Amino acid sequence: MKSTRKEFLGMGALAAICSGCGTFNIGKARGRRPTPSDTLNLAIIGCGPMGRGNMGSFMKDPRVRVTHVCDPIGESKRHGYNARTPHGRDVFKRQVDDFYKTDVTKSIADFREVLADPSVDAVQISTGDYWHAIIAVDAMKAGKHVYCQKPMTLGISEGWAMIDAAKEHGITFQVGSQQRSAPEFRKAAEIIRNGLLGECRSCTIGLCYAHNDALKQNYTRDCTPSPVPDCFNPKSSMWDLYQGPAEHWENNAYIPAIHDPVCWRWSSRTGNGSIADWGAHHFDILQWALGMDHSGPVAIENVKTDIHDPAVTNRYLDQAKTYEFDIVYGNGFRAHVGDLGTIGYNGLKFHCEKGDLFVSRGKFEAPEAIRNWKESDLKGSDVRLYANDHAKTCHEIDFVDAIYEGRQPACPVEVGHRSATICHLANIAARLGRKSVRWDPKAERVVGDAEANGMIFVKHHNGWGF
Ligand SMILES: NC(=O)c1ccc[n+]([C@@H]2O[C@H](COP(=O)([O-])OP(=O)(O)OC[C@H]3O[C@@H](n4cnc5c(N)ncnc54)[C@H](O)[C@@H]3O)[C@@H](O)[C@H]2O)c1
Repeated sequence: MKSTRKEFLGMGALAAICSGCGTFNIGKARGRRPTPSDTLNLAIIGCGPMGRGNMGSFMKDPRVRVTHVCDPIGESKRHGYNARTPHGRDVFKRQVDDFYKTDVTKSIADFREVLADPSVDAVQISTGDYWHAIIAVDAMKAGKHVYCQKPMTLGISEGWAMIDAAKEHGITFQVGSQQRSAPEFRKAAEIIRNGLLGECRSCTIGLCYAHNDALKQNYTRDCTPSPVPDCFNPKSSMWDLYQGPAEHWENNAYIPAIHDPVCWRWSSRTGNGSIADWGAHHFDILQWALGMDHSGPVAIENVKTDIHDPAVTNRYLDQAKTYEFDIVYGNGFRAHVGDLGTIGYNGLKFHCEKGDLFVSRGKFEAPEAIRNWKESDLKGSDVRLYANDHAKTCHEIDFVDAIYEGRQPACPVEVGHRSATICHLANIAARLGRKSVRWDPKAERVVGDAEANGMIFVKHHNGWGF
């Protein structure tokens, strides 16, 4: 099994060297560990709404200096979840320059130029999902620590390359699954993990629609091509850099319903719909609560989806809008998952012997007996989950702490890979019209279904690879 994985990674590296797209295919750079008095130079790669959110938290940390902002888009007016907030590298440069009262922030279109700069210690990757793995692996080969947005990958095989690169180059890697830094989720996971509500055999998980505004606009749009907008300048090279490893549409078309920022979520060439957008968050908590961070379920079952309904999807926007499925673990634990409309809430409800425990962002509802339970009530032999008192609830500061302290943060690379894997398995089953797929979490292979197994390998296009 190992040799198959190595062969896969080797093929990717060879393809990239031949194409000349990757810049850091050879080399053994190690992640630099700053001393306590050193500043950590950080580059922001991907200047959209999430990039702005993360960047704001990093700039509040006096140890960090945002030195570079990078995006093939200079300035786009039509951007963000409301399609009205300007974004792009030039907008971010103005924001960073204003903050530091300077004009030296580097505004760079091509991330390879950022990675080639030895002054950069760490990168935040806040591009669409289709770019995460390529940029992260190149960054790690260049010795940069990585804060990578969730879902960490577009497909399962990408996670292997990311895990290997982090190990090989001694990188601190934080996946942007910030629920790991939120006390309500940690408390819920500790209660389940320690059996404080008795036996817990199941859970029901509702996943929010991915950004309602984008969703509504997206599904009412047709998929006719438009001229490439002026925010890509020069148009052809920046447009290519935006699409990167995603398979291009005919005649290299710009299709607003897919290619306007945020909308990439709804094409399988670039994203994985709401199953991955929110599944990456909530399945991460499920795995944490079950102690499955380095493993995973053995099957996805009872898959129901509208992914093949022509009233909902087309060949461009091909992701499920409504869906239900079960995540089944080896010990029989079953998590029933559905979209917000089907389940009626966004969050996780654990069904335990002594009652239900519900957790969502800022919400924690538990039976009377446990409602006032505090983490300080944990006993010596209880499982105590990762917490960072210095970073408090800030996932970005937790990453910075981990870099200075030479360790991994709250959500390291393998954890992000395993959570994303569940999203990908559910999407594979849905896309192939399977009622179920069986998964071997040790070998990381789909069992007894060659077609589904073939879909765990991501194909990168346009000469991009590891
Ligand atoms: N943690 C969370 O709660 C959370 C919330 C929202 C989004 N996200 C994640 O953050 C990421 C970004 O989401 P978004 O909604 O901001 O998307 P977006 O499309 O609005 O922004 C992404 C930006 O990346 C840029 N980009 C594309 N190719 C690039 C390249 N080669 N180099 C540099 N920049 C490039 C785009 O031009 C765009 O400005 C996604 O992975 C998403 O899943 C996480």
